[in-house]
Amino acid sequence: MRAAPVLAAPVSALCLENVGVMRYEEFISMIISLDYTQPLSDEHVTVTDTAFVNVPVRLYIPRRTSEAPRRAVIYFHGGGFCFGSFKQRAFDFLNRWTANKLDAVVVGMDYRLAPQHHFPAQFEDGITAVKYFLQDEILRKYGVDPTRVAISGDSSGGTLAAAVTQQVQIDPEVKHKLKLQALLYPGLQVIDTSLPSHRDNEHGVVLTRDIAIKLVSLFFTKDEALPQAMRKNQHMPVESRHLFQFVNWSTLLPDKYRKDHEYTEPVLGKSAYSLPALMDPRALPLLADDARLQHLPRTYILTCQYDVLRDDGIMYVSRLQNVGVPVSHDHVEDGIHGALSYMTSPLYLQLGLRIKDMYVSWMDKNL
Ligand SMILES: *[C@@H]1O[C@H](CO)[C@@H](O)[C@H](O)[C@H]1NC(C)=O
Repeated sequence: MRAAPVLAAPVSALCLENVGVMRYEEFISMIISLDYTQPLSDEHVTVTDTAFVNVPVRLYIPRRTSEAPRRAVIYFHGGGFCFGSFKQRAFDFLNRWTANKLDAVVVGMDYRLAPQHHFPAQFEDGITAVKYFLQDEILRKYGVDPTRVAISGDSSGGTLAAAVTQQVQIDPEVKHKLKLQALLYPGLQVIDTSLPSHRDNEHGVVLTRDIAIKLVSLFFTKDEALPQAMRKNQHMPVESRHLFQFVNWSTLLPDKYRKDHEYTEPVLGKSAYSLPALMDPRALPLLADDARLQHLPRTYILTCQYDVLRDDGIMYVSRLQNVGVPVSHDHVEDGIHGALSYMTSPLYLQLGLRIKDMYVSWMDKNL
């Protein structure tokens, strides 16, 4: 697929929705599914589509024989919780590349999508499949070293990767813990929708503040009252007050990103709206308390300057550093949201490839 239609798609989709032809998310889903690939093996990697329990996955297993058990990477694709699959050309390319470059077993994960399925369906699929993979007999079956398994994801896939990692590290049923997590321009909170990155990138390329709010609302509910309140930053109830310390950008964001923005506290209790999921760290990993964060493995976070989600990632860097989790942070000064999805098309090709190389080389050194 060419990049131009993908970049123009959000605009076309909003137009179609405005004239009542098709819902925004249905149109984008249709465009993205044109880009799905088959599981094609090549001379280096054997590729198969299968399921872990009932969760669809694509497995990439290097062909060359290996003396020792291999490293493994579990990858969650992005798409605003509403779109996409490991089958997309860009993710198939990335996962195949990772398998090859690291000589690792790679698992491309799917999960149920909104708006047909709301939270916690996506989290449950993630945790089910990851726990299945981390069992002794399954790791042995695929020739994986249980001490060298990483999890990663981009955008909403980064949200899921972060949430699943928090859970796996404290889950008494999981014997083999994750060695690393890598979060690529992840979304990690929605309780404050007026961060400096929301203000600076309100009309951002690919992802505007409005579209981000629209998509993340569908993850929780179809009720239009939520996105309406979120646009005004008045969607949280009074009993969520204690959570704002975890997303307080006046303390968690370095000067460089705060610039001259004034911190204002979100208005609580304005909306009749009260969804427990909006206070759940399994949906919004930045809301986890320090005790939960302390158990996290070594972490890689990549953020892009021109991205509404930029400050989510940067605040997670600060929160993890504050509790002593080793974190590497790459900030891409000319980066835009979703760059990895454009790796296989002419536009933004170089940016996507650069981000891929930064991520894969960190993995290679640390896994
Ligand atoms: C955020 O931090 C600022 C500065 O430390 C403080 O004045 C403010 O009360 C904090 N707000 C919340 C909601 O934690």
